[in-house]
Amino acid sequence: MSLIMLKDITLPQEFVTPAPQSAEQLQHDQSLFAAAKEAIKKHNALLIAHYYTAPLIQKLAEETGGFIGDSLEMARVGKDSPLQTIVVAGVRFMGETAKILSPEKTILMPDMASECSLDLCCQAADVKRVKAEHPNATVVAYANTSAEVKSLSDWIVTSSLAVELADYLKGRGEEILWLPDRHLGSYIANNAHTDVYCWPGRCVVHDSFDAAAIKKMKEENPGAKLLVHPESPAEVVALADCVGSTSQLLAFTKNDSASTYIVATERGIFYKMQQANPQKTFIEAGIAARQGVSLDGAKCPWMSLNSMAKIIECLESTGEQRAAHEVQVPAAVREGALKPLDRMLAFAAALKSGSVPSDL
Ligand code: 13P
Ligand code: SF4
Repeated sequence: MSLIMLKDITLPQEFVTPAPQSAEQLQHDQSLFAAAKEAIKKHNALLIAHYYTAPLIQKLAEETGGFIGDSLEMARVGKDSPLQTIVVAGVRFMGETAKILSPEKTILMPDMASECSLDLCCQAADVKRVKAEHPNATVVAYANTSAEVKSLSDWIVTSSLAVELADYLKGRGEEILWLPDRHLGSYIANNAHTDVYCWPGRCVVHDSFDAAAIKKMKEENPGAKLLVHPESPAEVVALADCVGSTSQLLAFTKNDSASTYIVATERGIFYKMQQANPQKTFIEAGIAARQGVSLDGAKCPWMSLNSMAKIIECLESTGEQRAAHEVQVPAAVREGALKPLDRMLAFAAALKSGSVPSDL
C-alpha cells in the first residue's frame, strides 16, 4: 500500500474569502446564533471550540460557558467536564480524542467530514508497515491522527509538548519514529537536538506559508514580530520571533510589547488575539501554492465546515441524522489509543508541576 500524497487529498470545498455580510445575512446569522445558544442550554451541552473555528462559533462558546483552546486544552477540558453532552467544533481527531477520553459521554461534531490533511496523510496500514521496519523505535504520534493510528502509537503529543517530549525520550535513550507532520518533526529534531525517523505528512495550511512573501512583509512592517506555528516549513520557522502552539502564540501576544504581528497560523486565531489585544495590529502571513494545493488565504478548509446551522443540527436532530453527528470509536481501538493519550496528559501535568518521572 502506498502513502497518500498531499496532492491526492481532496479539499472539501473551494474556499473563497467571504464577502462582507449584507444586513439580511447578519440578521440571519444573529437568529441562528440565538437558536444555537438555546439548543446548547436545552441539551445541557458544553461547546468546545478550537481557535481556528469562525469568530461567531468562538463567541458562542464564550456566551454559553463553553471553552476555546488548543488541541491539548480541548482534550483536557472535555475529559474534566461533568457535562454528558459535548459538542466539539474542530476537526475529527479532536472529536475522537474526546470520545476516547470520555467514552460514557455523547460527543457530537457539527460535521463529521471535517478532516485534517495530516490525519489523511497517515493511514493505519502504512503505520503498521513502517513500524515493522523500525521495531525498536518509540512511535510518537501527533494528536492530528486517527484513533486507529493513535492505538498503534506509544505516545501522543500536541505541538505544545512535542519538543519537551522528544527531549525526554532522548534522555531515556529512545529512538523516535515521528508521525505524521514532517515540519513539526524537523522542528523537534532541531530543538531537542535528536534525530527522528520522520513521516512525510504536511498540513495544507501551514505548509503554504512562504518565507519570501513573509520577508517582504517584514520589510514593509518594520518592528512587526512574526508568530509561527511549528507545522510551518523550516525556512519560515527560522524567521520567527515566537514559535508555538496556538495557545502559546496567543499568550506571547499578551506578554509582548510589539504593536504589530505577522501571524503564520490559521486565521481563526485572530478572533482571540484581537480580543486580548484590541490596540494591536495582526496581519496574516503570506502563502504560496504548494504541491498542487492552492488556498485563498490561511484558512483550514476542514475547520470551515463547522457552522452555526450544523451546531444546531447536531444537537436537535434525532435518529439517523443525529447518529451522523455522533463520534464513535470501536472499543478495541479506544483501548489501544487511551494508553498513549493518558500518557500525554500525565506528561503535560508533570511538566507543569516541574518534575517529570523517568518512567512515564
Ligand atoms: P494546536 O495544538 O496548536 O491547537 O494545533 C492544532 C492544529 O490543528 C494546528 O494546525
Ligand atoms: Fe489539520 Fe492543518 Fe487544518 Fe490544523 S490547520 S486541522 S493541521 S489541516
